[in-house]
Amino acid sequence: MEKNVATTLNIPGNGSQALHERRMKAVPQGPYHVTPIYVKEARGALVTDVDGNTLIDFAGGIGIQNVGHCHPKVLKAVHEQVDQSIHTCFHVFPYESYIALAEKLNEKTPGNFAKKTMFVNSGAEAVENAIKIARAATGRKAVLSFSRAYHGRTLMTMSLTSKVKPYKFGFGPFAPETYKIPYPYYYHAPEGVTPEEMDAQLLNQIEEMFLGEVTAEDVAAIIMEPVQGEGGFIVPSANFVKGIREICDKYGILLIADEIQTGYARTGKLFAMEHYGVAPDLMTTSKSIAAGLPLSSVTGRAELMDAPAAGQLGGTFAGSPVACAAGLAVLDIIEEENLCLRAQEIGEKMIARFKEMQNKYELIGDVRGLGAMVAMEMVTDRKTKTPATAAVAEIVKDTWKNGLVSLSAGLNSNVLRFLPPLVVTDEQLEKGLDILEASIARVQQNA
Ligand SMILES: Cc1ncc(COP(=O)(O)O)c(C=O)c1O
Repeated sequence: MEKNVATTLNIPGNGSQALHERRMKAVPQGPYHVTPIYVKEARGALVTDVDGNTLIDFAGGIGIQNVGHCHPKVLKAVHEQVDQSIHTCFHVFPYESYIALAEKLNEKTPGNFAKKTMFVNSGAEAVENAIKIARAATGRKAVLSFSRAYHGRTLMTMSLTSKVKPYKFGFGPFAPETYKIPYPYYYHAPEGVTPEEMDAQLLNQIEEMFLGEVTAEDVAAIIMEPVQGEGGFIVPSANFVKGIREICDKYGILLIADEIQTGYARTGKLFAMEHYGVAPDLMTTSKSIAAGLPLSSVTGRAELMDAPAAGQLGGTFAGSPVACAAGLAVLDIIEEENLCLRAQEIGEKMIARFKEMQNKYELIGDVRGLGAMVAMEMVTDRKTKTPATAAVAEIVKDTWKNGLVSLSAGLNSNVLRFLPPLVVTDEQLEKGLDILEASIARVQQNA
């Protein structure tokens, strides 16, 4: 199905409006959505709503559609599996696809050592399990996560997350023995401070924290997003990531890479940690792992993964055969269609266009990204870097009204972030960027 993006759109149309009215009555407001647009079908980088409007998708379901909506190979794998069995529960009757996908992840994740992989259903659940494994393996309790981190909505993952509203507000008390450490945010470095100096200062602050807050011998793990996602697409230097690895090695702390948003070719490598030449001890993945089916993984050093005894890990639906079949198809597609290379190309095109826009629109304070994980930080004043939160909300709304879905991010929700499916065509990419630029121009004019 190749559809044209309509030039005059009526969004939200009557069908979406009627569904929205029913939604507001039947569903609580908690499960938020960026748009009031109700989907009929989706293919590649295009989504068609119930009113027949087709939009370009630069959100990819928040990074779950790296291989594109309904890739024919994923559909084939899923159809074949549902014809055989839907779910027998791995804890009762195991099946080959779980093992085959574990073998592939053991082979393809960074780290030249023996690994094992287990599967659960969601990103948060993978992080929960990584923490369980780290605690069981080290016999230690404390976990360090970063400022501006996002790890999920369960008790432990909320506790590790560093944005209060909306994610944590009113939901405390949080899990004990969780501590925050600073993540480098070079765009906001004090004037005159170089990235190298910032890295050194922050790594030193972590060492000081071991004296003032929690002793290193009590720390089981440091969990780190290789590029912060919800935090605003913040990219650390290889030097900083290596520094974290060194701290972990020095004190016997495990390094957990949360690759849930960065994984599966998004950043131009299969996993973002490859950019830094650092192998984590444990890695969590989800989102694009199975092209939209609920699946997540924890991969790690074999001896750590075996620390919990039989029966201590798992879940009823964890690693369902349908999701694993999709997961195997996803890895094949990434290889066959060279999606790591395509992610680099998409990223380069987007960054080049964003830089052009930055010369025209004062609102654009910073342009950054890694591969096709790209963002613009919007500010009301380039000197003070004051967050342009309202402008970003307006741009997001203006884009979807005009046929492009985009997302915000950041502690101040003033970052426009883009996670287009990596199968987006050049034409769709250009068209999406045109819609985006027109929205920025309109909002800039009214600012
Ligand atoms: C880095 C990271 N970790 C964990 C999660 C939580 O994943 P889920 O929403 O599937 O629980 C997310 C979701 O956005 C994420 O980006």
